[in-house]
Amino acid sequence: MHVLITGGAGFIGSHLAEYHLALGDKVHVVDDLSTGQLSNIAPFLDDPHFRFTEQDILTWCELDHAVGWADRIYHMAAVVGVFRVLAEPIKVLATNIAACERLLRAVVHGGWRPQVVIASSSEVYGPQGRVALHEGMPLLITPGAPPRWNYAISKLADEALGISYARQHGIPVVIARLFNTVGPRQTGRYGMVVPRFVRQAVRGEPLTVFGDGLQSRAFIDVRDTVRYLDQLAQHASTEGVICNVGRDDEITIENLARKVIERVGSTSTILTMDYEAAYGQAYEDIPHRRPSVRKLHELVEHRPTWTLDATLDDLIARVRAEET
Ligand SMILES: NC(=O)c1ccc[n+]([C@@H]2O[C@H](COP(=O)([O-])OP(=O)(O)OC[C@H]3O[C@@H](n4cnc5c(N)ncnc54)[C@H](O)[C@@H]3O)[C@@H](O)[C@H]2O)c1
Repeated sequence: MHVLITGGAGFIGSHLAEYHLALGDKVHVVDDLSTGQLSNIAPFLDDPHFRFTEQDILTWCELDHAVGWADRIYHMAAVVGVFRVLAEPIKVLATNIAACERLLRAVVHGGWRPQVVIASSSEVYGPQGRVALHEGMPLLITPGAPPRWNYAISKLADEALGISYARQHGIPVVIARLFNTVGPRQTGRYGMVVPRFVRQAVRGEPLTVFGDGLQSRAFIDVRDTVRYLDQLAQHASTEGVICNVGRDDEITIENLARKVIERVGSTSTILTMDYEAAYGQAYEDIPHRRPSVRKLHELVEHRPTWTLDATLDDLIARVRAEET
């Protein structure tokens, strides 16, 4: 199979590349390295089945050609991370929406119908109550939404584009609403909590919990995510399928911090910081975020193989090796 991955030098995209190369597939990654890193794909650069193009997909003139080559496209490229969303709210909207539309338009021009997997986000659900979030529920967007919600709005627009292109042009599309994904190669630089906590604990620094720490999340290991995405792609349909991709074990951020400290055996303390101090502006967090995995498990056979503890132990070992 020929696999094109936009944003393939990023965290999840590089794991998709690794997974498909291991299956013997040919993989073409396009990435502008805005948040992705060459080191994420360095191990594959000598693989004859692997190709990397450093380009912005908004302007890349070879996009039509690359899309025409592919049997499957994972559209992972996006402006991501709370710090970037708050710093560049217009860019989030403009890039994320335009990139997805340009990609889908290229698929139509190609005349060939590859499976298209579009990375959406659990953020589209908005601030719901303490319920398992399921694909059929109405989504919440605050009127006059502050720029913090631009990321969710951009992902919702991508979903609408994906569904519309699927139905109007007969392109098999699946939209993956990704929940908090963790694992090797994720950087804490743009606001991701687990890599930040692990590094702080290994260094014996205080773990900085933003907000009161009672907000909860459900984490999935990226190595499970890529298997889910591969199996979901096989259900891509010209109706457009929307499906959560995550695990449904919830943990509060405070308890996550305690767990990391305990597993590291660290002397670190926990430092709570209000959102304004953390982000430099007011921020409306989502109190709880847990997926319903019912639809996911109806569609695919894969079941998670990584517990949060196992992922943390793996990350701790990697950070320890880097820091010594
Ligand atoms: N990691 C998560 O927990 C999570 C949760 C929900 C959704 N997602 C979505 O999954 C996708 C991948 O996220 P990630 O965590 O791997 O983030 P990431 O930042 O590591 O990956 C995104 C990649 O896209 C690239 N990119 C951005 N704009 C580009 C452009 N215009 N042209 C080419 N490349 C571009 C970046 O350089 C980066 O390598 C994103 O669409 C993100 O919104 C991730």
